[in-house]
Amino acid sequence: MTELTIVPEPTPTQTPAQTPSTAPVETRAAAAIAECRLLATMTEEAGRITRRYLTPPVAKVHDHLRKRMESLSMTVTVDAAGNLRGLWQLHPARPEKRLVIGSHIDTVPDAGAFDGVLGVVLALELVAEAQAKSIPIAIEVIAFSEEEGVRFGVPFLGSRAVAGRFDQALLDLHDADGVSLEQSIRDFGLDPSAMSEALLSDEAVAFLEIHIEQGPVLESEKLPLAVVTAVAGQTRCEVTFTGQANHAGTTPMHLRRDALIAAAEWIVAVEQVAERHPQNVQFDQGLVATVGKLIVEPNAGNVVAGLARATLDVRSARESARLEAVEQLLDRARTIALVRGLTCEVRHKMDQPAVSMDEELTALLADSVEAAGFPVRRMPSGAGHDAMVMATRVPTAMLFLRSPGGISHHPAENVIEEDVAAALEAGGVFLQRIAAKLSMQN
Ligand code: HGY
Ligand code: MN
Ligand code: MN
Repeated sequence: MTELTIVPEPTPTQTPAQTPSTAPVETRAAAAIAECRLLATMTEEAGRITRRYLTPPVAKVHDHLRKRMESLSMTVTVDAAGNLRGLWQLHPARPEKRLVIGSHIDTVPDAGAFDGVLGVVLALELVAEAQAKSIPIAIEVIAFSEEEGVRFGVPFLGSRAVAGRFDQALLDLHDADGVSLEQSIRDFGLDPSAMSEALLSDEAVAFLEIHIEQGPVLESEKLPLAVVTAVAGQTRCEVTFTGQANHAGTTPMHLRRDALIAAAEWIVAVEQVAERHPQNVQFDQGLVATVGKLIVEPNAGNVVAGLARATLDVRSARESARLEAVEQLLDRARTIALVRGLTCEVRHKMDQPAVSMDEELTALLADSVEAAGFPVRRMPSGAGHDAMVMATRVPTAMLFLRSPGGISHHPAENVIEEDVAAALEAGGVFLQRIAAKLSMQN
């Protein structure tokens, strides 16, 4: 794997001045990138970007985005799931059909500066453009509070609430510090009993998410943008092997019930099962499986591990492949445990089927990309997105920007200014076309 040189970007210290939307698109693109890098400084951990659900830096991001929204004369609210929402209407006194544009502001640990938050910053740029060009369209911008699923192990908490898919049982989830989801919402000054009020307005006619690709396809094809056709399905669960902790020096090998060795044998099997599937990066046929987190107890060098808890993340655009691989891997875990005299417990955290984007809206987005002068590349997404949840509620489309180095969920994650400019230009055409469509319907 090529070593990535992480070129530390200048850390901006103050909110970049609002760039007039009549400025050249390159200037607006540069300002959007600077804004993402400023928001990246709002982190739980000095020196790296980590912003989990409703942790203190989220309040700072809210303050920053609220100022931006208010400067755009938007009505700003925070719903019970912690989503920050800004609404721009031409005629605030009466209901108006609206386009919703958004993405998430939470991050994985030691993240990049663009996953999620770029989509919110560009959404606000498009509101400014709609106002400057008097494009007759109401726009709601949503900064989703929790897409990654890092703090409570379950993703899409914010968009589930907006899409009317928030299961109240989720409030009983607990984070690593034993804080419940319900308590974390209260600690942020919100009322978890008002979750149903987060539901998307009936005036919403479409949802657009602008996001980095987070993979190597666009870079390998030297393309700036892609229109997403579908988002791969994903299964997330936890597999816990329990044996017997014991002394590393006095316990003979044949008398051990070593949980870490069992997990290790299983983790190799996870890779082997996934590698049997086509590994094309297009994701239309591929399948990937990942063990990204391993908790070992008592986690001491001179103790045979009594417990090993591994996460499993399986993705594919083909449902049958995903479900079959998950079943195979969980059966394998149980067999390994049985043979080694251990127990094996499986906790399902999420089963999200693959979701296709709305064909008509995606065609309109593709036409907008082409009319803005850029090649149209259609592709599925291996990464999950709030768009896959919103698509269950409202016609949804996604626009991808190239990921230099094909890397994401890493500090080296980046964007190219020209690609951000391209996304703004295509987004501007998309606004015009949606507005024209709505005016014909009214
Ligand atoms: O993990 C994902 O697919 C996304 O980045 N949350
Ligand atoms: Mn992510
Ligand atoms: Mn994301």
